[in-house]
Amino acid sequence: MRARTVIIDTDPGTDDAVALFLALGSPELDVRLVSVVGGNVGLERTLANARAIVGLTGRQVPVVAGAGRPLLGSFTAASHVHGDDGLLGVVLPEGPPAAPGVAADAIRAVLRGAAPDSITLVGIGPATNLAIALLTEPALAARVREIVLMTGAVGEGNATPAAEFNAWSDPEALSVLLACGRPVTLASLETTAQALCTPARKAALRALGGGACLRAVCDIMDRVPAAARMGGLGHVEHDACAVAWLVAPHLFATRDVRTTVELAGASRGRTNIFRRRLPGPANARLLETLDADGFFALLGERIVALNPPGGLRP
Ligand code: BDR
Ligand code: CA
Repeated sequence: MRARTVIIDTDPGTDDAVALFLALGSPELDVRLVSVVGGNVGLERTLANARAIVGLTGRQVPVVAGAGRPLLGSFTAASHVHGDDGLLGVVLPEGPPAAPGVAADAIRAVLRGAAPDSITLVGIGPATNLAIALLTEPALAARVREIVLMTGAVGEGNATPAAEFNAWSDPEALSVLLACGRPVTLASLETTAQALCTPARKAALRALGGGACLRAVCDIMDRVPAAARMGGLGHVEHDACAVAWLVAPHLFATRDVRTTVELAGASRGRTNIFRRRLPGPANARLLETLDADGFFALLGERIVALNPPGGLRP
């Protein structure tokens, strides 16, 4: 099987870190570029965290800085969730330097060098970088095979009552991606709520032993408080759901949906995800159910493989 070529756009972020480790540990994916956006914390920190995460895996994947604010409006971090440093105080060794240039240029460069329908864009932060890349050279959309996003909510949001954080952070950018004509797959808050990281699942991961990457993941998970919205049973691994779809699609059941995003007023950033009575043609695929035990088994297997206890890989 040939690995799928992906670009990951991210704002690490505790759950972004887990998603990046999963992607970099999965032979099904050929990660060509990690582009970084301000989101959970400011760009300076998300960039340092992305560099450190990639560095810990020993993979030679360029990490490039992108937008530090949304297309419109002002930047708001989620430091109350991810800490001021984005990783809730877990300190990783300094990673390799960032690649020169800016994210939108680097994304376009990968697309330009690619065959039609060949590059998968994975967006697990505000969609700004991906939108700028496609807005500035729309013909490159033809090179995109699929856009997989952790964004949106069918029901209540987590940034506002109406909106999920990534969608709310840059709804205009999300609307560009939804309208670009390429297949879009959504991991919404309802999808990711199923990736519930309970104390038992954390203990099972820790028991795998593993090397530096698994230890980092377990240390991060230990610091994320249980979510009130999950009844205090654990926290949710949002972003790794988007990556898991590409690595192990059999873990999900999906539904074709029609999705729009609200751009104004109190519902700004709200995604209208119509699941049954679609007011127009379907424009996205929603990841509707997740085999959570399979998901956590996958996380453990792939993150251990990045640097097993015996030390075959860095
Ligand atoms: C999304 O927002 C961020 O806080 C997380 O990293 C995730 O991408 C969840 O709403
Ligand atoms: Ca994120």
